[in-house]
Amino acid sequence: MLHSLSTTDFTNLWSGSSWIILTIILFVSRWAFSKFNASDAEKGPRQVGHTIPFIGHALTMAKDKKTFFMNALKENKYQPFWILVAGRRHYIFSDLTDAGAIHKNENDISIRNIKSFLYTQVFGVSKPDADLIWDVNKEAYSVDRRWLLGREEQDKITSQYFRHVDHHMNGLTRRILQSDGKEISVDGLLTVVYLEGTSTIQTFYGDTTLRKHPQILEDMIYVVTKGFKPILFGVPRVLAPKPYAARDRIISAFAELAEELDQRDDVSGYFQERYTYINSRGVSRKAIGADMFRHLFASLLNSLPTTYLAVLHILQSEELIRAIRLELTTAGYNNISPEQRVEVLPEKTPLLRSVWFETLRMHNNLITLRNVERETNIATRPEWTLPKGAVVSVPAVLIHYNETLHPEPDVFQPTRFLDRSMGGKGENAGRTLKPFGGGSSYCPGRVFGEKQLMGFVAELVMRFDVELVEEEFAVPPVSDFDDLWKQPRSHWKLKQKVQN
Ligand code: HEM
Repeated sequence: MLHSLSTTDFTNLWSGSSWIILTIILFVSRWAFSKFNASDAEKGPRQVGHTIPFIGHALTMAKDKKTFFMNALKENKYQPFWILVAGRRHYIFSDLTDAGAIHKNENDISIRNIKSFLYTQVFGVSKPDADLIWDVNKEAYSVDRRWLLGREEQDKITSQYFRHVDHHMNGLTRRILQSDGKEISVDGLLTVVYLEGTSTIQTFYGDTTLRKHPQILEDMIYVVTKGFKPILFGVPRVLAPKPYAARDRIISAFAELAEELDQRDDVSGYFQERYTYINSRGVSRKAIGADMFRHLFASLLNSLPTTYLAVLHILQSEELIRAIRLELTTAGYNNISPEQRVEVLPEKTPLLRSVWFETLRMHNNLITLRNVERETNIATRPEWTLPKGAVVSVPAVLIHYNETLHPEPDVFQPTRFLDRSMGGKGENAGRTLKPFGGGSSYCPGRVFGEKQLMGFVAELVMRFDVELVEEEFAVPPVSDFDDLWKQPRSHWKLKQKVQN
């Protein structure tokens, strides 16, 4: 019977009762799907709907998460909401008091699974090692805090960093003096990446590590800009050999450092202490190498874009360059050694400090992610239940572009966080910004990050007459490294500055 049906018969058949049945099936599945996804107003935030079953908003979010989150918040009348991302509910909060309550409820809303996923999937660590790293986390974090936030220890680290920056800046000065016109043009992003990146690696991991493995920075950039997605989505190694090779080269360079830790006297006291401890707890060398790689990610992937974007803003305003130079000169910057800069930056440079915060406010695109371990609620929303297995997110952008907290959020205002008594707008960064997460993984590098930026910017404007070369370049809206890397770059013209 079937073989005797012509195409026309077939079409007729489809245009008849089958269409009705198909429509009913689609209708019922949509109803079932929306019932499965429906939010109960009594029990939790409302859902911001989507059109792709299961995948939900994953693709739109991946494309431009800043615009996506801002639109979703508006659509939901500035209340917390949830979205479906890759089959999981993501509860999105944008209020500072909610963020505080989320970070307080760490037993029920934890970063553990998120970190474990990163270690195993991105850094290739075995599950038992990832568990061991979690077990040593509390003690290791207290070492981080002491070295990166304690005044005396941090000064030791920072003065080393300033010394390395000075050394590399001398290299730029030499290039200028050796050039024909006593003027050079450099790729801005590469200059920040090379100078700040190399100085940071030398400071923490030591010169020997870099001398033995000079490709570390390049490999890291490759992993972040080209290799991250294949590794994250577990594409088999045969299909993406280069990303895995770059990742593994870095990890084995750092595993070697862990092996030779007590013979490398150019490694920071901070790393000596942190990794001697982790080693003593039986974590494998490979996993220690991976942990050091995670630290490299943490210390560079946010700082480098922030410095680059701050410089882009500064170079677009002659008035701002002059004001920053005046602030540094008044603070005595010209008469001190690189190591002594710890006494000036940032205590005596409130304008530069405001520029750092304003750059973070405008461009930071980080999302605090937590996993809901068991059905729970948060203190600020006792009537709402967050189901086990959901993800809780606080995208910094929703706080940083809140007009009530930050009037005219789309405008870069260098004096926004400068005290009113100094002619600034007097906004309080500590109370109104959330770029560093919170709770037990609150970024321990938040103060050193500021010094990374200041050490670079101060040297750039005090040593050189620096101008943007007039050509097409973008001021990217967000500071995600991989995004920044793809944008049209700025070039800077550098001449030696005549000292006042
Ligand atoms: C612009 C600069 C920086 C930004 C915006 C930033 C942001 C962050 C954020 C959002 C987290 C996750 C917090 C959470 O989920 O609760 C974090 C964690 C971390 N950051 Fe930073 N960070 C910066 C610079 C640095 C620097 C310079 C270092 C090191 C010197 C550093 C070291 C770390 C470490 C070790 C962690 C993990 C803490 C843990 O979970 O044990 N960060 N950072």
